[in-house]
Amino acid sequence: MEEIVERLVLAQEARREELLLLLGDLSPEEAEHLRVAADRVRKSCVGDKVYLRGLIEFSNICVQDCLYCGIRRSNQEADRYRLDLEDILSCVDEGKRLGYRTYVLQGGEDPYYTDERIVEMVRAIKERDPECAVTLSVGEKERESYERYYQAGADRYLLRHETHSRELYEQLHPGMSYENRLRCLQDLKEIGFQVGAGFMVGLPGQTVADHVEDLLFLKELQPHMVGIGPFMPQQDTPLKDAPAGTAEMTCRLLSILRLLLPKVLLPATTALGSIDPKGREQGLQAGANVVMPNLSPTRVRDKYLLYDGKICTGDEAAHCRACIERRINSAGYVVDMGRGDGDIL
Ligand code: SAM
Ligand code: FES
Repeated sequence: MEEIVERLVLAQEARREELLLLLGDLSPEEAEHLRVAADRVRKSCVGDKVYLRGLIEFSNICVQDCLYCGIRRSNQEADRYRLDLEDILSCVDEGKRLGYRTYVLQGGEDPYYTDERIVEMVRAIKERDPECAVTLSVGEKERESYERYYQAGADRYLLRHETHSRELYEQLHPGMSYENRLRCLQDLKEIGFQVGAGFMVGLPGQTVADHVEDLLFLKELQPHMVGIGPFMPQQDTPLKDAPAGTAEMTCRLLSILRLLLPKVLLPATTALGSIDPKGREQGLQAGANVVMPNLSPTRVRDKYLLYDGKICTGDEAAHCRACIERRINSAGYVVDMGRGDGDIL
């Protein structure tokens, strides 16, 4: 096991069977050895800095029906909302006041947000705060749409591949195809976006071997960012009774990703902070270097419920900003309010 970790550190690669071993039964000492190796690589490649991105969840209306997701089209219980441009710009103003340099605009696949409206939103944010980076996370679109967003000034795009198992992907996403997901990621890269892919950990039916394929796929894709978090059930979805993924497996995967892609931007996600009160701190200590505190208005916070038990649903943006800084410092790292652009070289 130590040899595998050593080779990962030196060559940033591992074979399928080696990754399987790292994700299998490790003693507490072995698991700690992996974590410490990832933390060292993190320190030498990206330092002690943790970048903050302000997350604006601007719509929970979605035409897709992903089985795991609380804002899926078929969920009649979801209390739907969408923010208009004015609301979004107020979030940006608040974010600017709190020192953010990146705004992540995330929402369901909401038809109200046509390409024209997304372009208008990106332009307006850039006008308001010309030095900032704008990240979009609005799902699968045609290449021409992505090109329009990029030309309007969007810098980054987050689109998790969710799982590299085609079979599982298609079971969980009725009416969607894994080919199209991959096509989107390829288009986004070619257009010039800094791209974030990623996956959920511990989905029903997902195996450790599936996670090995997730890792190998990401190594090949070379994204700028990788968002991973535990699957968590949501009470009004078909997967409501499925067990959640674990913080431990998520952290182990974060460590391996830090070793495979030393410079990658790796968020300690909200889902990780929701499954365990110290999840984000553990994620940082396992190799993560980004946190995305919520900037959405408090009146809609408790409506963007992808899963049960989500943290920060009642907190003001300023509260989260201060809370996160304390947590980052307590884990042994420092906040960096720079744009933190990705670098895959
Ligand atoms: N619609 C956009 C998309 O598909 O990329 C962005 C919004 S989507 C709700 C954001 C992410 O939430 C998904 O990529 C998925 O990984 C995550 N997510 C959804 N439901 C979840 C659940 N029950 N547990 C953990 N993560 C979940
Ligand atoms: Fe929101 Fe801690 S980050 S309260």
